[in-house]
Amino acid sequence: MKLKTIAILSVPILMLILPACEPPLQDKKLTFTDRRKLERTGNASLESRIDQLLGEMTLEEKIGQMMQINNSEYSVSQDRGAHFGAPPDVQVSIDTSKLIPFIEKYKVGSFLNGVAVSNERWREYSQQLQEINMRYHRLKIPMIYGMDHMHGANYLENSTIFPHSINIAATFRLQFSADEATVVGEETAAIGHHWVFCPVVDLGRNPIWPRFYETYGEDPYLSAQMGAAYVRALQENPNTAPYRQAATAKHFIGYSDPDNGWDRTPADISDQTLQEFFVPPFQALADVGIKSFMINGGEVNGIPVHASHDLLTGLLRDQMGFKGVVVTDWEDVIRLHKWHKVAADMKEATYKAVMAGIDMSMTPYTTGFFDALKELVEEGQIPMERIDLSVARVLRLKMELGLFENPYPTQTAPPATRRPENVSKALQAARESLVLIKNENVLPLSKDIKKIVVAGLNANSKKGLSGGWTLRWIPDTDDLFPDYVPTVFSALQKEFDGARVELATSTDIVSRAVNADAIVLAVGEEPYSETPGNIYDIGLEEVQLELIRKAQSTGKPVVLVMIAGRPRVITNTLQDTDAFIWAGLPGFEGGTAIAKVLSGKVNPSGKMPFSYPAFSGHWYPYNHKNMERFFSHPDSMNTIAGFGHGLSYTTFEYTNLELSAAELTKEESITASMTVTNTGDRSGMESVLWFIKDEAGSVTRPVKALKHFEKVELQPGESKTLNFTIDPLKDLTYPDKNGEQLLEKGEFRVICGGIERSFFYTGGEAEQ
Ligand code: BGC
Repeated sequence: MKLKTIAILSVPILMLILPACEPPLQDKKLTFTDRRKLERTGNASLESRIDQLLGEMTLEEKIGQMMQINNSEYSVSQDRGAHFGAPPDVQVSIDTSKLIPFIEKYKVGSFLNGVAVSNERWREYSQQLQEINMRYHRLKIPMIYGMDHMHGANYLENSTIFPHSINIAATFRLQFSADEATVVGEETAAIGHHWVFCPVVDLGRNPIWPRFYETYGEDPYLSAQMGAAYVRALQENPNTAPYRQAATAKHFIGYSDPDNGWDRTPADISDQTLQEFFVPPFQALADVGIKSFMINGGEVNGIPVHASHDLLTGLLRDQMGFKGVVVTDWEDVIRLHKWHKVAADMKEATYKAVMAGIDMSMTPYTTGFFDALKELVEEGQIPMERIDLSVARVLRLKMELGLFENPYPTQTAPPATRRPENVSKALQAARESLVLIKNENVLPLSKDIKKIVVAGLNANSKKGLSGGWTLRWIPDTDDLFPDYVPTVFSALQKEFDGARVELATSTDIVSRAVNADAIVLAVGEEPYSETPGNIYDIGLEEVQLELIRKAQSTGKPVVLVMIAGRPRVITNTLQDTDAFIWAGLPGFEGGTAIAKVLSGKVNPSGKMPFSYPAFSGHWYPYNHKNMERFFSHPDSMNTIAGFGHGLSYTTFEYTNLELSAAELTKEESITASMTVTNTGDRSGMESVLWFIKDEAGSVTRPVKALKHFEKVELQPGESKTLNFTIDPLKDLTYPDKNGEQLLEKGEFRVICGGIERSFFYTGGEAEQ
């Protein structure tokens, strides 16, 4: 019998529940005033300014700080419908007669949204908006502006567009996540974009979910690391001084795994799964000081998250210790009444959301929140201390960003956009994000190639490469895109100068392929964001499968490139496909990156940040439970590419996995080392992933869990020895359903490059 098993059977003294740094806050039964005291920072002058302002503010002025209005409501277009169809400059415009009442009467403290206009236009707009705010706000509290910059400054003309987060995750390089945030800051901090609604650390554990591409994939550790790198780079960028930006952790919590896979639909997630998988990435962002959280518009376990005191206060504030601003998602207060039906009217919806723990309502079209909250306070249903708690958080955010000192955008020319060094970072990220899933000696395409036929939905599409949240919420035409953005087709033409690169359709692909040396099929999806991305079937559409079959019928080598926000199932076509690349949504530089990988100028190095489903009806992530596969044939596969899979044009060998000790206690660590050698004939990059397997636990354990990763470049024949220091408190613990961290004695395994070594955790001094 294994030691761990003995430990568990002889519970509970051998199971260590780690003491939290301080007693759990929920035990303190905090009043709103206590809570406000607890959230005070060490900055005494800032806190006294907050106290002073709160003392001077009227109830209306306080409620206004808790509201965020969409820019459509004060743009110069006639009505909301016209606004969204209007030219970009009209969408980013101000009709003062519409704006002034929001500030004068409703004291609104925040606005949001936009589309891609020039940085000069944004500068003027932000200047005008803040000037009007300052003129009509009695206490001159600056407004804060929120933007969805999801993969670079996507609502700014001529900006540097990075790959979406699912691709950034595939690079396994935190630097790219940081680069993206740094460039967003450089391009937008000085033009009045104060508050960036990124990163998304919802887990990509439901591949049909239409926001899958906004995530960093299925693994909590990867997501936590990528998200934290983004937040640090955005919030701590000294080069944007005097301007600073706030990041937003979204969408807290459980949004990404709804039961039916559709956007904003109910999720049933056990407390255990929530704590073990969904909390850690959000916790990581809270730990690096992220300034805001945005809430999941769906329900979890029967309660809409916007109405859940357990999640918004018990979990987020008391357990996770988050002290910043909680903003609702789109219309999510009124939706408690209109959609979720947990409130009889707007007033009850407002009561529920505020008492659950929201600080600011993205209303975003109406002022009903103002009226409802005012009544609730005047009637004594919501105490003023509760309002003060939220307003203090909002004021603190504005002060920490320096908005009181620097409310206006730059008074000189806005910073340059699309600087060459930034574009090359986006290109490098795109290159390293492409995952070569299959290659039967066809890639890289020969230098002597005479003719390539290119076809497919995304063969000559700019919008397809960038996906949703690019220039518009959903970019529906390539006309929006600048000339300099290549498609796969135009990039291949440039790359294979001399070879004939021809674009084919489903009708002429067979005839065009007659004298071709290879067929490249860029299949996938059109752009979508949120609910419009709901689909019935994760299988690739029949019309695209038909194209693949036609290409295969020619007998020519077929290279399939999947350009899509989620993994569309293509298993039945895979056997006759010679090479398969998952390209995700690589952004403006994606066409070039794909062409360079196909030509071999770039050696692919991306690895799957999620498990690519083999079937439409059955899927589980790599870190599933043992019993998920217990009854299946050991060789059965439910993925065509598991988490961490990714081929290269060279080969890597993993040898000599060694551990510095066979046992450790709570105070000790073990160092695992592994030698990785480039055994091929060209240089390449390899992401080395370290997993831990807990052999037995009192709660069923995932078959393995990523704990560390590092990407290395190796020349042919070169070896590097890499280390992973196993810290029991960090790498061997897991939470129970209440969030208490457990560290259980017994056998563990470290797994790297398919090799495993076993070691034992024997407990700490105190437990001996
Ligand atoms: C989305 C958020 C986004 C917000 C503001 C919502 O519909 O769910 O991710 O930040 O709109 O545009």
